Amino acid sequence: MSTVSTGISNDLREHIDRAKQLGECKLVEGADWDLEIGAITELQLSAPDQPMLLFDNIKGYPRGYRIASNFLNSAKLVALGFGLPLESRGLAQVQAWRDKIKKPFKLIPPVEVAGGPVLENVLTGKDVDLYKFPSPKWHELDGGRYLGTGDMVITRDPDTGWINAGTYRVQVHDRNIATIFMCAGRHGNLTRQKYWDKGQPCPVAVVCGGDPLLWSMARSGLPWGVSEYDYAGWLRDEPVEVLKGPVTGLPVPAGAEIVLEGEIVPPGGETRIEGPFGEWPGYYCTGSREEPVFRVKSILHRDNPIVLGAPPQIGPYDYYYGYQVMRAAQAWNALEENVPEVKGVWLPPEARGPLMVIASIKQKYAGHAKHAALFLSGYYQTAWLSRFIIVVDDDIDPTNMTEVIWALTTRCDPATSIDILRGCWSNDTDPMLSPEARRSGDWTNSKGIIIACKPFSWREDFPPSCKASPELLEKTRQKWGKLLFDRK
Ligand SMILES: Cc1cc2nc3c(=O)[nH]c(=O)nc-3n(C[C@H](O)[C@H](O)[C@H](O)COP(=O)(O)O)c2cc1C
Repeated sequence: MSTVSTGISNDLREHIDRAKQLGECKLVEGADWDLEIGAITELQLSAPDQPMLLFDNIKGYPRGYRIASNFLNSAKLVALGFGLPLESRGLAQVQAWRDKIKKPFKLIPPVEVAGGPVLENVLTGKDVDLYKFPSPKWHELDGGRYLGTGDMVITRDPDTGWINAGTYRVQVHDRNIATIFMCAGRHGNLTRQKYWDKGQPCPVAVVCGGDPLLWSMARSGLPWGVSEYDYAGWLRDEPVEVLKGPVTGLPVPAGAEIVLEGEIVPPGGETRIEGPFGEWPGYYCTGSREEPVFRVKSILHRDNPIVLGAPPQIGPYDYYYGYQVMRAAQAWNALEENVPEVKGVWLPPEARGPLMVIASIKQKYAGHAKHAALFLSGYYQTAWLSRFIIVVDDDIDPTNMTEVIWALTTRCDPATSIDILRGCWSNDTDPMLSPEARRSGDWTNSKGIIIACKPFSWREDFPPSCKASPELLEKTRQKWGKLLFDRK
C-alpha cells in the first residue's frame, strides 16, 4: 500500500512531488521546445497508464525552467489530482467523484494572503520577457509558441466583481505581447466585452501552472456568476490561498508557478495573428485571425518555474485530463434524478471531450433507453457538441470500449435503433462544420442517438450471452489469476 497522501494538492509542485513518490512522474532532460516536447508528450500516450512528464534542461533554457505535461492523463494521476482513492479507475472512479460531490453545496471563497512563493520573482518594465519561459510549439502546423495551454485566465466582472477563471490558450508574440483565444460565449470573452463596451482595456491575470483541481475547475464550465476559486474551495473543504496581483489587483493563487498580469486592448488597438493551433477535437478548426493583444505589464514567478502544458492530443491512452470523470459524474447524477435504474455514464476519452456520451441502464419499461438518451442530449453538461449518445444495457460497462462496441455490433439494428437530432448546440471548434456553415454562423451539429440495448419488447427471447458471469469470472480470477497474469 502506498503511503502517499491522497488529499488534494495545494499547488502544482505538490502534485508533482506526490506523483514522483508513486513513480508516476518521469524526468525528461534535453528536449527541444520546438516540436520535440509536443511529440514526446503525444508519443507517451501510445502506451497505457503512463506517468506524467517533467521536462528539464530544455534546449536554450537554464536548468530548472521546466515544463510539465500529461499531468492528469492516467486514472492514477486523476485520482492523485482530485483526491480520489489511488487505485480507482473507470466507473468506480466516476462513482468516487460522485460521492465527493454529494456533500452539501457551499461555496468557499478564497482567502487573501500577504505573500507566497509566486512573489519570489516580480518582473516589471523592461524586465518583462515572455521568452524567459520555455513555451512549446506543440504541433507541426501551430502558428507559434503557446505559454498558456494548462492555464487559467482570471478576469473580474466590472459590474458585479465576480472573478472568473477559464482555460484559454495563450500565444507568445513578443517579450511583452501575447494573445488569448476565447471562443464566443466563454465567460472570459463576455467579461472582456463589458470592459470594451465602456471603451476600456480588460485587466487579466494568466496563471501558467496551478494545482490540477483548481485548473480542472477553470476548464469545467461552471455557471455564469460562480467563481472557480469558490467552487474549488467547496471541493477542498478549505479556501484557496490567493494574493492580489500587484498590477491588476486580481486574485492569483499564492502557490502559482507563473502569473502574467496585464490587459487586453479594446478593438481598434494593436492586434496580432493568433493561431492556428491544434485544437481539442484533433484538428485545426478555427484557423487564425487578428486578435487584440494582451499587453503583459508584469510577470510573477517562482524560482525554477514550471510551465503547465495541456496540449490537445490524439493518443490511444489519452485520459483527457480527467474531463470524463467530472462530466460523467455530473451527468450520472442528473440522469439518475430523472430516469430510473442508471448503472453508469461515461464520456470516452477516445472520442475526445464531449463528443460521445454512453449511459448504461437496466431497462424497466418500453422507451426507457430512449428516455435516457434524450435526457442526456439536452442536459447542459452533455448537450454541447455531443455527436453520439449511446445507451447500453446494465451488463455493459460504459467505460469498457470492448464491451460497448460488442453491444453496438450485436444489440443495435441501425435501421431501427438510431435516430438523428439536427440543429444541435455546437461551436466553431467542430471539424465537421462545412466552410459555408462556418462562415454563416450556423454552428450546429447533428446527434446520433443510438440504442444498443436488447429490444425491450422481446428482451426475454434475446439469445443468452455466453460471456461468463462476473461472479464466475471473479471466482476464477481468485483461483487462477496469479498463474495466468503473473509474468515473473
Ligand atoms: C486544455 C484545454 C484548453 C482549452 N483552450 C481553450 C481556448 O483556447 N479557448 C476557449 O475558448 N476555450 C478553451 N477551452 C475550454 C474552456 O476552458 C472551457 O470551456 C471552460 O469552461 C471555459 O471557462 P468559462 O466557462 O469560465 O468560460 C480549453 C479547455 C481545455 C481542457
